[in-house]
Amino acid sequence: MQDSQQTKDRAKHFFGSWAGSYDRSLLNFFLFEPSCFVFLEELVRFQQDHAQPFDVLDIGCGTGTLLDLMRSSNLQVGQLAGLDYTMEMCVLARSKCRNVESSQFPSILHADSERLPFADASFDVITCGHSFHHYPRQAAVVREFRRVLRSGGRLMLIDGFRDNAVGWVVYDVIIASIEKSVHHASWSLMRKYFQEAGLVDVTHRKFNFWFPAFLTMGTVPGGSA
Ligand SMILES: C[S@@+](CC[C@H](N)C(=O)[O-])C[C@H]1O[C@@H](n2cnc3c(N)ncnc32)[C@H](O)[C@@H]1O
Repeated sequence: MQDSQQTKDRAKHFFGSWAGSYDRSLLNFFLFEPSCFVFLEELVRFQQDHAQPFDVLDIGCGTGTLLDLMRSSNLQVGQLAGLDYTMEMCVLARSKCRNVESSQFPSILHADSERLPFADASFDVITCGHSFHHYPRQAAVVREFRRVLRSGGRLMLIDGFRDNAVGWVVYDVIIASIEKSVHHASWSLMRKYFQEAGLVDVTHRKFNFWFPAFLTMGTVPGGSA
């Protein structure tokens, strides 16, 4: 338990010092931003099957790039919220989302992915990009994500793909030595987390060559969101 807290505190300090230059970093350019566009594509698909406005929570929202893209897109999003464990990231996300005139201003909370400050069944979609490998209790976090999703809701999670040679070098060797105490789940382990949390129709999609990443999606059984 203490190790878990140390892992989370390490992530908080790491991103606290990176926050100011995060948007200008190479990783943002080659990996994080492209991942936001993968999420957008999937959100458009989700919308096609779910006519009404849908509520979205972005976990580990960082500087708010995805929230800002969602907000300024044509997506029919109802409640839009973001959450991050690093206060510096929350501050930047709030200011980024304030830049463009819009009636839709997402609420951005400073909180831990392990204990989401929301009632059961609060959202139709959860997105989580490149944050999951920092979570010390990954299976529990996926169960927590599932708790706040409504019936028919969808979890969309992107993280580094470490199941080929390039991904192993990038994530298990280089990133692990820089970030310390991180764990990039394999494709099969991620699938297991989703299925054990009760999510169905679990699918994966790999993208990017030099910084390979993969999207895993699963749906809460029952109703339409
Ligand atoms: C690599 S950044 C990704 C940010 C954003 N999703 C993006 O793609 O640009 C990882 C983010 O996860 C956040 N994070 C790490 N551990 C967390 C936790 N336990 N709960 C919530 N956020 C966390 C970090 O503060 C950081 O902002």
